[in-house]
Amino acid sequence: MKRVLLIEDLPQVAQHLQQMLARENEVEIAGVQTHADAAIAQVTTEKPDIVMIDALLSGKVTGFDIAKKIREVSPGTRIVIVTVPQRPIEPKPEQAIDAVFVLPGGMNELGVAMNVGRHAKTTRHGNIVAIYSPKGGTGKTMIALNIACVLRRQGKAVALLDGVMQFGALRHVLQVPPTARSFVDLPAAGAMKVSINEVLWEGPGGVHVLLSPGRPEESDLVQAADVATAMNLLSETHDYVIVDTPTRLSEDTLAILDAASMILIVVTYMSATVANSRAAIDTFDALGYKGAKPILLVVNQADTPGGMSRGGIEHALNLPILGELPTDWKVVSESLNKQQPFVISNPNTAISKAIENLANSLVAQQRK
Ligand SMILES: Nc1ncnc2c1ncn2[C@@H]1O[C@H](COP(=O)(O)OP(=O)(O)OP(=O)(O)O)[C@@H](O)[C@H]1O
Ligand SMILES: [Mg+2]
Repeated sequence: MKRVLLIEDLPQVAQHLQQMLARENEVEIAGVQTHADAAIAQVTTEKPDIVMIDALLSGKVTGFDIAKKIREVSPGTRIVIVTVPQRPIEPKPEQAIDAVFVLPGGMNELGVAMNVGRHAKTTRHGNIVAIYSPKGGTGKTMIALNIACVLRRQGKAVALLDGVMQFGALRHVLQVPPTARSFVDLPAAGAMKVSINEVLWEGPGGVHVLLSPGRPEESDLVQAADVATAMNLLSETHDYVIVDTPTRLSEDTLAILDAASMILIVVTYMSATVANSRAAIDTFDALGYKGAKPILLVVNQADTPGGMSRGGIEHALNLPILGELPTDWKVVSESLNKQQPFVISNPNTAISKAIENLANSLVAQQRK
């Protein structure tokens, strides 16, 4: 059931929309607000799934101003702007307009705008990206986190999974409250579908984070198959599912890589990393991944070539490079320690721009 808050100051229009919403099985009305301040206060405390805002709201602030404010206080809320045919508006997720509903509009158009029921977009497969490296410390966590934030900023629904069940890092590089739930709170198999959303923690900018367990002894409670099930379920409701994948090619890691629709291998210009990547890629070939899913390279710290070249890596691994990231010790380590993704806290640095390019290449690759 999705909770919808209506922000509309014309009583007749509010009543018309309420009647339509009442006919939509998958939504319930969380309230009707006529003033910006009260509306934003309710969104801040209740974080509804959807808000419908009249673009022509009278008063000091416009519907668009309210939309931007709502995006700030509740990034996970879908924002539907209500307008009339004389005043056409285009959806622009980056400007806090996820969809537009044109009055008087039918039930079909309403369902599409709210993305519910049979209109709900199921993207499914093609969007689960595993960030992997056969060597520890190459930058998997940093890349997974920042790519997720960039894709979210572009208006996409993004889930970020910590695939490292023991000593996972995502909860330490984000401001995760101690009460946040994790994989261990997820019921197995069939029951997972109904409760997966309750286990997600809303991270920076509205990225939905599925955390790995907080205690090392809890890692055994999570089955590899359940991780794959969670990835597939999240891919039905998110445009992208980004997975921070463990280094060791164990049964659990293979379950993640099997479920992934794309694998990004993080490499650096270190011969040991390249050699181990070669061995991992041989394993992927043996598992039949070649041709089944794109496997692409991300060169981290690409400004430190150490006698190797871009062409050399592509040749040795026989895979294309999707993107390159520079070294920035200060920005990267400070952002991880301050628990603020650098694409948000330092968006104008070279490394943030490089992550943005990487995310754009990823989107282009997925479209292929
Ligand atoms: N481009 C970069 N510039 C500067 N420092 C970096 C860069 N990439 C990664 N680092 C540093 O390297 C360390 C490891 O990064 P990160 O934790 O993302 O790697 P990882 O592959 O997830 O490691 P693990 O295998 O332990 O999970 C961090 O301390 C980070 O600050
Ligand atoms: Mg890591």
